[in-house]
Amino acid sequence: MPKPDIAALPRHIAIIMDGNGRWAEQQGKPRIMGHRAGVESVQDIVRAARELGIGVLTLYAFSTENWKRPPLEVQALMGLLKTFLESELTTMVRNNVSLRCIGQKDRIPQEVRKVMDRVIQETAGNTGLILNLALSYGGRSEITQAVQAIARKCVDGVLSPETIDQAVLEQHLYTAGLPDPDLLIRTGGETRLSNFLLWQASYAELYFTEILWPDFRKQDLLTAILDFQKRQRRFGKTGKQAEQTHDH
Ligand code: IPE
Ligand code: IPE
Ligand code: MG
Repeated sequence: MPKPDIAALPRHIAIIMDGNGRWAEQQGKPRIMGHRAGVESVQDIVRAARELGIGVLTLYAFSTENWKRPPLEVQALMGLLKTFLESELTTMVRNNVSLRCIGQKDRIPQEVRKVMDRVIQETAGNTGLILNLALSYGGRSEITQAVQAIARKCVDGVLSPETIDQAVLEQHLYTAGLPDPDLLIRTGGETRLSNFLLWQASYAELYFTEILWPDFRKQDLLTAILDFQKRQRRFGKTGKQAEQTHDH
């Protein structure tokens, strides 16, 4: 198995962790067992990203649309999230990982939010991998709240409409200060974005795999990175121009 070129790693990898339910169903187990197994993939992929020296890893854990799932499944997912955060805190501190969360924070149950805030706070000074969890996240709601915040500033006279450019919009997204994802992976065989990072993924390289999330491991991440490294990112230019500039 060839190894990825360490000098050309994606700075930011974003993953739509899909297929937990089908993984469980295939084994005749309740869906929640798939989510539980998926936590092990999260641990493995976080470790791999950290060891490789990836800057940012964004994991889509719960979408704004996932609130429509049966209440018991939602509850179980929130419970798993809380346990995950509690149990990972010491590992994150030890490994210089810093936690960030993007999404509708006010919709996260309070007991989960409390743990989340504590982990964010206690890992804020860490300078290694940024683990960015997308929770109650939706690209459309993210853009909508950014527009609201900008409109408020215009009304308050802090901003004038003429000065609103892409940089201003970016500063009001949950991901302010983070680089855009270079590589966006979706497991579980579906080839759609499901409201994930709509603004930020405009030039991400997309990678879809049939592998269900609970089966996704470091080796599969390396395969995705190798595939990414074979592509030419042109950003609108001609192939020849892109070759000359090597820009990101
Ligand atoms: C992804 O797995 C996890 C979440 C959306 C929370 P799914 O639960 O969507 O699994 P499938 O797509 O039903 O197999
Ligand atoms: C996307 O998966 C959201 C997460 C992985 C958290 P879904 O399973 O919810 O997406 P759809 O409904 O198939 O588009
Ligand atoms: Mg799914």
